[in-house]
Amino acid sequence: MSEKRIVVLISGSGSNLQAIIDSIAAGSIAGRIAAVISNRADAYGLTRASNAGIDTQVMDHKQYPDRAAFDNALQETIDGYQPDLVVLAGFMRILTPDFVRHYAGRLFNIHPSLLPLHKGLHTHQRALEAGDPEHGCTVHFVTEELDGGPLVVQAPIPVLPGDDAESLQQRVHILEHKIYPLAVAWFCAGRLELTATGVLFDGTPLPANGFRYTDE
Ligand code: GRF
Repeated sequence: MSEKRIVVLISGSGSNLQAIIDSIAAGSIAGRIAAVISNRADAYGLTRASNAGIDTQVMDHKQYPDRAAFDNALQETIDGYQPDLVVLAGFMRILTPDFVRHYAGRLFNIHPSLLPLHKGLHTHQRALEAGDPEHGCTVHFVTEELDGGPLVVQAPIPVLPGDDAESLQQRVHILEHKIYPLAVAWFCAGRLELTATGVLFDGTPLPANGFRYTDE
């Protein structure tokens, strides 16, 4: 199967981007990153991309009159790279329905909670406040509903006595770096397909919560 073309969108540190770069370098993903695009010029992920010899672009959303204008320009830039898959890796922007529809079935996000729990921000604190026995992260296809698209894979961690938002964030991040490259690898191998009724893996419907990843 031919190598898939991936475009990664970031706003910050890019540690998930790094995990995908490393996984490609290790030969675990049949794809290559055609470009990394950031809406912030100071995102450290841009340095990570340059270090790996990947094309980078900065598109500052503040330079556009409104969300639709930015998303149109972003779409044009992304499409210039003809991606098979677009990966949101800490891209801190809400995307317009038109943008999301344009990439239907080829747009991934990672979210730091066990979706459908705790959509939106401050997920670690909210998991603590809710008294959740477990917390974690999820890779999902992006649809028009914020953090609401069909789930591909989830990684749970137990919430331990003495945990605070920071300790949870640290343990969840470690798992993010495992499940994001895994989901990208599955996609690039042609194993995942988004259909009207949910996600197919090797042609078989995934459960609503996606795969449950454990370290064992
Ligand atoms: C991650 O926690 C991810 O779940 C969230 O944004 C953060 C990005 O971190 N969507 P990084 O930039 O990949 O280090």
